[in-house]
Amino acid sequence: MSLTHLRDRGASPRVPSVTAQTLLEMKRCGHAITALTAYDYPTARLVDEAGIDVVLVGDSVGMAVLGYDTTLPVTNDEMLHHTRAVSRGVQRAFLVADMPFGSYHASAEDAIRNATRFIKEASAHAVKIEGGQRRADLVQRLTDAEISVVAHIGLTPQSGHRMSGYRGQGRTSEAMDQLYADALALEGAGAVAIVLEGIPREVAAEITARAGIPTIGIGAGPDCDGQILVFPDLLNLTFSQPAKFVRRYADGAAFFANALERYRDDVTARTFPGNAESYHLPRELREQREALEQPADLHAAGRK
Ligand code: KIV
Repeated sequence: MSLTHLRDRGASPRVPSVTAQTLLEMKRCGHAITALTAYDYPTARLVDEAGIDVVLVGDSVGMAVLGYDTTLPVTNDEMLHHTRAVSRGVQRAFLVADMPFGSYHASAEDAIRNATRFIKEASAHAVKIEGGQRRADLVQRLTDAEISVVAHIGLTPQSGHRMSGYRGQGRTSEAMDQLYADALALEGAGAVAIVLEGIPREVAAEITARAGIPTIGIGAGPDCDGQILVFPDLLNLTFSQPAKFVRRYADGAAFFANALERYRDDVTARTFPGNAESYHLPRELREQREALEQPADLHAAGRK
């Protein structure tokens, strides 16, 4: 029996079909890695059943779903709640949970405790943390604690205040060199993959060529080992101007708005629900009631 057959049959821990090793093999074979975010069960099912390799429960949930202005207010408990929902919908993909701002900054012990909850309580296969070389020791500590880590460098939204907003990174030779050093330090510390966000295509291509672990790009050009997008961006469900790197594959907002308006109109016109969408009494009981409800003169006519 293959490991795939053990999946979700009560085997514990759940064995994903796509593992960190699979991603590494995909890099080695030049097979592009597909990744998307998901924040809830139905989305997770759609993404997983579409054959996407990596599902990230991003802290972008803060903006995409919870209505915050940034990712900073997102809590560990909120991330756990969404990761649990997503994990119930994922059968095949490698499931990564984002560690939110503040959950891995105080100390390595605190970070390990918080990260462990994603694996134990929410069935994540790996956690993602933001930051380069300065996080290498932490990546090493998490890896030593048997927790797989996806690193995230370049534009790291949790550093938004320090970076004075969401700006593209790696545009000077010093910044480029720092990114190469970041990637190699994180790989050396045991990271299983690196998200590259908001950096020049040329820099991402160079990191991808130098790194032994897969790179997954968002706003980092086509030469990364894989690509990730935020699910609501892909479907125009974000209510904001998309970033340059977003490609919209469907107009979800228009699709839903049209359905909602038709529902509103049907209810207003009393054409929803119809008879076929209603429950009915058993036929015998209905006929008895109809007979009782007949007007008296019809009963009389019936007796003649
Ligand atoms: O939170 C998120 O969605 C992310 C992706 C942009 C990689 O970190």
